[in-house]
Amino acid sequence: MPTKAALAHIPGPPALPLIGHTLKIARDSYGTQQDYIARYGSVYKTNMLGVWRVNLCGADAMEMVLMDKSRIFSSQGGWDALQRIYPGGLLLQDFDHHRANRRIMQAAFRAAAIRDYRVRMTGAMKTLLDTWPDGEAFCFYTAIKSLTLRLGGAVFMGLPLDGDLANKVNRAIQDEIRAAIAVIRRPVPFTPMWRGVRGRRFLRETFRTLIPERRAQGGDDFFSQMCLATDENGQGWSEDEILDQFNLLIMAAHDTTATALSVMIAALGAHPAWQDRLAQEVANLGDGPLDDDALGKMVQTNLVFREALRLVPPVPFIPRLAVKDFHWKGFDIPAGTSITLNPGVTMLSAEHFSNPTEFDPERFAPGRNEDQSHKFAWSPFGGGAHKCIGMHFSTMQVKLFVATLLRDHRVQLVGKAPEWQRMPIPKPKGGLPVILTKT
Ligand code: HEM
Repeated sequence: MPTKAALAHIPGPPALPLIGHTLKIARDSYGTQQDYIARYGSVYKTNMLGVWRVNLCGADAMEMVLMDKSRIFSSQGGWDALQRIYPGGLLLQDFDHHRANRRIMQAAFRAAAIRDYRVRMTGAMKTLLDTWPDGEAFCFYTAIKSLTLRLGGAVFMGLPLDGDLANKVNRAIQDEIRAAIAVIRRPVPFTPMWRGVRGRRFLRETFRTLIPERRAQGGDDFFSQMCLATDENGQGWSEDEILDQFNLLIMAAHDTTATALSVMIAALGAHPAWQDRLAQEVANLGDGPLDDDALGKMVQTNLVFREALRLVPPVPFIPRLAVKDFHWKGFDIPAGTSITLNPGVTMLSAEHFSNPTEFDPERFAPGRNEDQSHKFAWSPFGGGAHKCIGMHFSTMQVKLFVATLLRDHRVQLVGKAPEWQRMPIPKPKGGLPVILTKT
């Protein structure tokens, strides 16, 4: 890790002892970043919990770091905070090792596999949505987190929607996620990290016992697919590798999708004309199955999804660790420097998007295509070697949810549209209370 002196030539705001800029950024991460960019330019340093980080802002920096032609930037080093809970997952691997494992993982994301997940998800989605209250207020964010977790149990693990095991697994997953973002990084008894470490142990023990059966019989859930996955040379994973990759996959899939759906529902509540438009699109699909053909027709829903991801991206910052010296925008930056990319701030930049804070899904429609002003102007799924492997899966899940909900319900916000907490995991302040009404 370079000392403060090694980064003395990088501009940045004065830092408080020990905590640096942590509190200010935690309180208002986007506002603070926008202010620093205006004052110091697109390369500046901040101190988070005692670690100096160099922020490389804008779409050009995203492209340089994520495409990483000279193998300078380590994702494993960047996401080091996840190491204790999610070691061995794709995000915590680099370069050739990562590429070899990603090729194996790709087998679980073939179009045919995603079709099977969709079939499995369709019935489960309807069953879960039918349990939501009708005509009375409830917190959408809590409800959607629970729904995506329980769906995950079915689609990711092949478990029944309810039952003791599904509940224990879901609790362990949540404990892991809380540990990943906990301030105390050691498993001191009764802290979130301690619970997360126990959750990880429980999940590994539980899923290890399922591997022989899933290897022998297969199954149309993610876990079974990962037990059988191989690259083009027939190379698959050991038991430990399956468990590590699966563990990170569940985490990567869970909060991201719940956040994206919360942003969409908040937007549809605040913009009833768009809700009517999407409801009409769903009505035009008729009562038939929500298959690939039907979901492919949900063009307006896709615009709203893209706009939701722009306004409140579930992954607003991407960390990397420089493993070689490099030069960017006139600065020499030494190996060992922690780097932060800010796709969330870039996606709110007037350089790429007109009236960037406004909800305007048509900015993505043919003719406007605002996202195409730069390859990384719109990049909620990242890019390059680590680009989200679940992008098509999450698009399918979001469309399925919207279609199932708006076939026979409308959503109304209780109170104003929410403000969003941006860090460490984006979520609506106040939990997004809504009322669903049957049509
Ligand atoms: C709206 C939903 C989602 C968003 C916005 C999102 C965003 C992202 C981003 C930005 C990255 C790259 C991080 C980096 O480069 O450091 C990523 C990676 C990843 N995502 Fe997603 N994600 C979503 C849903 C999912 C789903 C549903 C799955 C699994 C089914 C998934 C699995 C993964 C995995 C395994 C990686 C690591 C890939 C690698 O390192 O090669 N994500 N995601």
